[in-house]
Amino acid sequence: MKSSSSSSSSSSSSYYYILRERCLNRGSSPFFMSFLLVTVIFVPFIFYSINPLNPISKPPPNISFSGYTDGILKNCDLFKGHWVPDLHGSRYTNSSCTTIPDSKNCFRHGRSDTGFLNWRWKPEKCVLPRFDPNKFLEFVKGKKLGFIGDSVARNHMESLLCLLSKVETPKDEYKDSEDRKRIWYFPNHDFTLIILWTKFLVHGEERMINGSSSGIFDLFLDKIDEAWSKDLPVLDYVIISDAHWFFRPIYLHDSTGVVGCVYCNTPNVTDYGVGFALKLALRSALNHVNNCKMCKTRVTLVRTFSPAHFEDGAWNTGGRCNRTVPLSESEINSSGLEWELRSLQMGEIEKARTEGGKLGKRFGVLDVTKAMMMRADGHPGEFWGNKWMKGYNDCVHWCMPGPIDVWNDFFMAILIREASFVS
Ligand SMILES: *[C@@H]1O[C@H](CO)[C@@H](O)[C@H](O)[C@H]1NC(C)=O
Ligand SMILES: *[C@@H]1O[C@H](CO)[C@@H](O)[C@H](O)[C@H]1NC(C)=O
Ligand SMILES: *[C@@H]1O[C@H](CO)[C@@H](O)[C@H](O)[C@H]1NC(C)=O
Ligand SMILES: *[C@@H]1O[C@H](CO)[C@@H](O)[C@H](O)[C@H]1NC(C)=O
Ligand SMILES: *[C@@H]1O[C@H](CO)[C@@H](O)[C@H](O)[C@H]1NC(C)=O
Ligand SMILES: *[C@@H]1O[C@H](CO)[C@@H](O)[C@H](O)[C@H]1NC(C)=O
Repeated sequence: MKSSSSSSSSSSSSYYYILRERCLNRGSSPFFMSFLLVTVIFVPFIFYSINPLNPISKPPPNISFSGYTDGILKNCDLFKGHWVPDLHGSRYTNSSCTTIPDSKNCFRHGRSDTGFLNWRWKPEKCVLPRFDPNKFLEFVKGKKLGFIGDSVARNHMESLLCLLSKVETPKDEYKDSEDRKRIWYFPNHDFTLIILWTKFLVHGEERMINGSSSGIFDLFLDKIDEAWSKDLPVLDYVIISDAHWFFRPIYLHDSTGVVGCVYCNTPNVTDYGVGFALKLALRSALNHVNNCKMCKTRVTLVRTFSPAHFEDGAWNTGGRCNRTVPLSESEINSSGLEWELRSLQMGEIEKARTEGGKLGKRFGVLDVTKAMMMRADGHPGEFWGNKWMKGYNDCVHWCMPGPIDVWNDFFMAILIREASFVS
């Protein structure tokens, strides 16, 4: 079994180091830690709002998807490539897209460099088509798509909303009291987009100590988080992701009891590290998709680990991410924890794919890790407008517009490729 000592010592991983230290050294200020973390994760929801505009309707174009399903694109590894300069710039702005959440609206909060918008991802062996909102909406007509994950999954979904807003502004159909579940409906295309918020994919409970949140979690690997599992049956396509909540003290349970932990520092309980917990939670989630008899989910995509880029300190010790150009290939560390987590995720997807093949279910991957490891220039940093967290930089989420928009270029290509096997 791997231990958590594989944490990278590179600057981009200092985030985890510090989290870990904080966690181990719980006496110091557990409340402070969970407050900051919870704020980082929740603030985007607090600020999120949508301004419905009149939809710009267009007649349905005569669309062919064959470019995605045959020939070079189909056989190309889209995730192996590099960033190349591209002067087309971004595909939306903070005025064309009214649904950019305040905390990702970097220009609004004073970011003045725009060079980070002028890069395109170029796979080695082919050209990645740019997200085409008309084709996309045509493709998902009558379907339901769900994003399942934490605030980074939300960030991805927000980018998709902006890209689609060029063609149709959705109706804001449902929002629960904490804005954790949200539904948008695109009436012209009978397309439904749902975000289902979950910390761990599996059921997790935070321990209360003397009536206050402890920042310590119990995870039940054999119990799926109902926050998403109860809605899974109606979804045609899903994108699953998770990661950032696993960097805290966690006790792992299966049907027999506690089987291990992460950062627990408890006698007789083995700390197997973040990767182990992440892997088992994802495995449970993907098994659930495969075993769900009443689910119509045809294509399940897993988005791999999205790296943070704190430099010269950790998130709470002045760490920042103020670069204005991408890192080069030689500046990223492909033997650190981030890449390890990505590889564990890839392994689980492969298992699910083999299993699902027998059941008529498709699994695919949005392997964004390497591309995003190079995009230290793509985070809000200090430009996220948070009043309570002034002085702290957000080097976890991504500016909009920004490099996160490539996730939807990947998404469209992979969705069409995988769906061509089932529809
Ligand atoms: C990359 O990560 C590995 C594993 O954590 C570490 O040993 C190595 O020093 C790192 N390399 C660089 C260049 O940061
Ligand atoms: C759509 O385009 C194809 C080939 O480009 C053509 O054969 C077909 O007739 C067109 N369909 C419609 C409804 O225009
Ligand atoms: C959009 O960004 C500009 C700076 O580029 C900023 O001045 C403006 O306030 C922003 N508008 C909105 C609606 O966020
Ligand atoms: C809970 O509160 C009691 C009484 O105030 C105190 O003695 C005890 O140490 C507290 N436990 C923890 C874990 O803080
Ligand atoms: C840990 O295990 C040892 C050997 O089985 C046992 O003697 C000890 O009481 C255990 N400690 C705790 C805290 O459970
Ligand atoms: C980032 O901030 C540091 C400290 O303020 C400064 O020295 C450095 O030049 C900044 N980098 C860029 C690209 O602005």
